[in-house]
This record gives sequence, structure tokens and C-alpha cells, in this order.
Amino acid sequence: MAGRVDALYFFLLAISAFFSLLIAGLIIFYAVKYRRRDPNSVGSNAHSGMALEITWTVVPFLIAMFIFVWGANVYVAISSPPPDTINVYVVGKQWMWKFQHLDGQREINELHVPVGRPVKLIMTSEDVIHDVFVPAFRVKADVLPGRYTNIWFEPTKPGRYHLFCAEYCGTRHSGMTGEVIVMEPAEYQTWLSGGAAEGSLASAGQKLFSDLACNTCHRPDAQGRGPVLDGLFGKTVKLQNGDTVTADEAYVRESILQPSAKITAGFQPIMPTFQGLVSEEQLLELIEYVKSLKAQAPAQTQTQTP
Ligand code: CUA
Repeated sequence: MAGRVDALYFFLLAISAFFSLLIAGLIIFYAVKYRRRDPNSVGSNAHSGMALEITWTVVPFLIAMFIFVWGANVYVAISSPPPDTINVYVVGKQWMWKFQHLDGQREINELHVPVGRPVKLIMTSEDVIHDVFVPAFRVKADVLPGRYTNIWFEPTKPGRYHLFCAEYCGTRHSGMTGEVIVMEPAEYQTWLSGGAAEGSLASAGQKLFSDLACNTCHRPDAQGRGPVLDGLFGKTVKLQNGDTVTADEAYVRESILQPSAKITAGFQPIMPTFQGLVSEEQLLELIEYVKSLKAQAPAQTQTQTP
């Protein structure tokens, strides 16, 4: 994305410089050309024509629209991750960055990613607003408490790149820095397999799911008092009040912390809140576990398995 962002940036710089120099040059030129030559001279009124008025209204308008369409185009591209991203969870807190890979690796202030693969960061904060900024990748996005925000990038060159917090977040904001370490794919695989002892996020989530006794109500056999979670993620959920909602990260998070905010149609608001009982990291584990639950389709499995 860096090339596209830079092209737009340098265009803005060039067009600003062009008009600044043009206007400053004309001011100086006319100030000299029409200077007062004797103390009694009086200027005559200037009359501009309609054609001139229209020109200097329409030309800037077209330039502004051109910049707008170009900028919107780049913005949409930056905001739309491709479907095959490597997902990494990011939790910001005063004053460090915590990264969680789906395979279970955890890192602090260091993020290892492979070259040539799009990476999506799913980010939240434990306390105040932070902001992930990787200048070399031209990506920057706020990290907000109680919400998930995304950015994505595709590293094109192995190396180490600065990562900054770009939102003033307290005393040691300036020290809230880190590094993105871009590795060759093979090297990355070695790195990945080196730290997977703790198991994947989803498996940690599964353990938590039973530790918190979620499984007594959310059972895959539709006999429970809570909705079946298998195959839920990404689907549209019908709510008690007739609304619908997409089961994304934010929805799962809200359903754990504020269960009565959105009641699934056909269920009672009996689920207790887990606010204060699960940390941001544990929420991510539970979300990954819910994501990993595929819909049960016994009939199909039978026809596919010889
Ligand atoms: Cu975190 Cu500034």
C-alpha cells in the first residue's frame, strides 16, 4: 500500500506547491507592476467577467473531486483486507503491545510475520485509546477499549520495522514502541513451530469454555438453554426484537460481556455477564474458539467420507 499512499501524498504536495508558488509569484509580480508611481494616483475599479469567475470555481472543484475520488479509493483499499489474511490479535495496554497468533504464540512489543502474505491485525485495548502505527507500511489505526478495529498490510521485504503508539496514552506513551519483524516464509514457519507449546488460541478458548461452564448451556445438540454456537461465526443472527446482527468478533465479545444486549430469537435472557471475569486475552481465546466451531452436518459428512 505504501506506493499508493506515497503517490497520493506527493501529488498533494506537488499541487499545493504549484498553487502556492503561482499565487505568491503573482502577488509579487503585480505588486511591482502596479505599484503606486506618484502620490496622487488613484486605482481604477477592476471588473471581472463571468467566464473568469466560472473558471476559477470549476477548476478547483474538479481538482478537489479528483483528490477526493483518488483518496477514497486508497482508503477503501486500506480498509478492505483480502480474504486470505494471516490474523493476529493485538491488545494494547499502558504501555505495551501484546500480540497473539492464532497458533498460540504470544509476543510483547514484537510481531513476527512472513513476507508476501497479507496480515490482518484485529485490535483492542485493555485501558485507554492507543494507536498502531507502522510508518514503513503506511498503516495506522486507533486501538479502542471495548471495540475491535482492523488494519491489514502485506510486507514485501524482510527486515525489522518500527512500530509506534500514535495516540497519547499516558506517561510512557513515547516508550510504547515495538518492531514488526518480517521473515522469509521458511524462517517464519520455523519461528511459528518454535513457540507453539501453549497450544492454539482456539484450544485455550475451548478449555476456558468448559472451565467457565459455558458448555452447560451452549451445547452442540440444541438441548441447551443457550443458542448453539457451532457454525455461528460469520452468520446472520435473528434477535428477539426482530433485528438481525452479523456474528462477528464484536458481537461475540458483547454477548459474553453484556449477554442481555442482544438476545437471540427464541431464547430467554438468562445468561450471566462475564464482565470482569474474563480478560481481553481470554475474550480473544473464546472468540477464536467460537470461530473454530464448524456447523454440524452429519448427512453431508457421510456422503463425503468413503
Ligand atoms: Cu499507547 Cu500511546
